[in-house]
Amino acid sequence: MRILGIETSCDETGVAIYDSDDNIILAEQLFTQASKHAQYGGVVPELASRDHIPKLLPLISMTLEEANLSPDEIDGIAYTSGPGLRGPLLTGAALARSLSIGWNKPCVGINHMEAHLLINLLEKPAPSFPFLTLLISGGHCLLIKASGIGEYEQLGQTRDDAVGEAFDKVARLLGLSYPGGPEVEKMAKEGDHLSYVLPRPMTKENHLDFSFSGLKTAVYYLVKSQKQKNQEFIQNICASFQNAVAETLINKCKRALSVHNLSRLVVGGGVAANQYLRDRLEVELKGIDLFFPKLERCTDNGAMVALTGFYRLKKSKSETSINIKPRWNLSEI
Ligand code: KG4
Ligand code: ZN
Repeated sequence: MRILGIETSCDETGVAIYDSDDNIILAEQLFTQASKHAQYGGVVPELASRDHIPKLLPLISMTLEEANLSPDEIDGIAYTSGPGLRGPLLTGAALARSLSIGWNKPCVGINHMEAHLLINLLEKPAPSFPFLTLLISGGHCLLIKASGIGEYEQLGQTRDDAVGEAFDKVARLLGLSYPGGPEVEKMAKEGDHLSYVLPRPMTKENHLDFSFSGLKTAVYYLVKSQKQKNQEFIQNICASFQNAVAETLINKCKRALSVHNLSRLVVGGGVAANQYLRDRLEVELKGIDLFFPKLERCTDNGAMVALTGFYRLKKSKSETSINIKPRWNLSEI
C-alpha cells in the first residue's frame, strides 16, 4: 500500500508517501513556519492555521512528483487528527478529507503521539514489541509501554510543562530564539554542565510522572540574580539545564524499564533530536537496546503520519467525517 500522510498539528506542514511493501518513504516535503512565530517567542495558533493553507496543495503536488506517482497510485490518505492545535488540525483534516472524496480513496485520522512512536519502525533494525517509549516533544512528556501496534499503556506523563516547552521557555529567558531546543543545545556545547546545581524534579518519588515547571523557575531565578548575562553565563546555564533534564529523564526511564521488566527503549518527539540527551542515554542505559528516529524525523513530519496511517487503515474502515481531537490520550486509541 502507498499512503499519503499529512501533518499539520502545530507549525510544521509535513507531507510524505509511505510504501508498505518496502517499508520506505518514497518522497517527503516539509515546510516549517518557525521563523514566522519566532518574533512572538512561540507558536501563534491562528497564524499557524492560516499558513498551512497555501502550503498544503503545493507540497502534496511536489511529493507526488518526487515519488513519480499520480493520485490514482495512492491507496489511502492519513492526516493528524490530534493532539494538537485546533485550527491547524482542522486545516489538514479538511484538506485530507476533500482529497479522499475527490480521489475516491480511504482516509483516516491518526494520533500524533502514536506517529512519533511508530516512526521508529522505519529504522533498521526496527524495535520489536514490547518496549518502553519516551515521547518528548513541545506538548508532551510521556512514558508509554507499547506491547503492539495500538496497544499502549501510559505509565507516566508531565504534570505541568512538557520537556520541549521547558527548553523553549528557558531559551526565551536567556534571549535565545524560537524554537528554543536547538538553540539551548548549541549554547550548551560550549558550556560546563556542572556549573549550576539545578533541581531534578520528582526523581526521588516512586511514580513515573514528570514535572518541569520548577526546573524552569529555578533557571528564571538564576537569570534574574545574574548581573552580567554574558555568553559564558548563557552557555553554562544551558549546559546545566540540559544536564538536569537528561538526568531526570534517565532516572524515570531506568525506573520504568525495571518495574515493567523491559529491555528496549524507543525515544521519539522533537527533543529526541538532542544529541547530548542521546549520548547520555547511551552511556547510562547500558544493556538496554536503544532506538532513536533519524534526526530530521524527531520533529514533526509527514513520514510518521503516512506510516501510522498505513497501520490504521489496515485495521479500521475509512472515515467519512472530518475528525479532530485537540486532546487525545494515547491509551484511548
Ligand atoms: O515533536 P515536535 O516537533 O512538536 C510537537 O509535537 O510538539 O517538538 C518540538 C519541540 C520544541 O519544543 C523544540 O524546542 C524541541 O522539540 N526540540 C529540541 C531540539 N530540537 C527540537 N529540544 C532540545 N534539543 C533539540 N535539539
Ligand atoms: Zn510532535
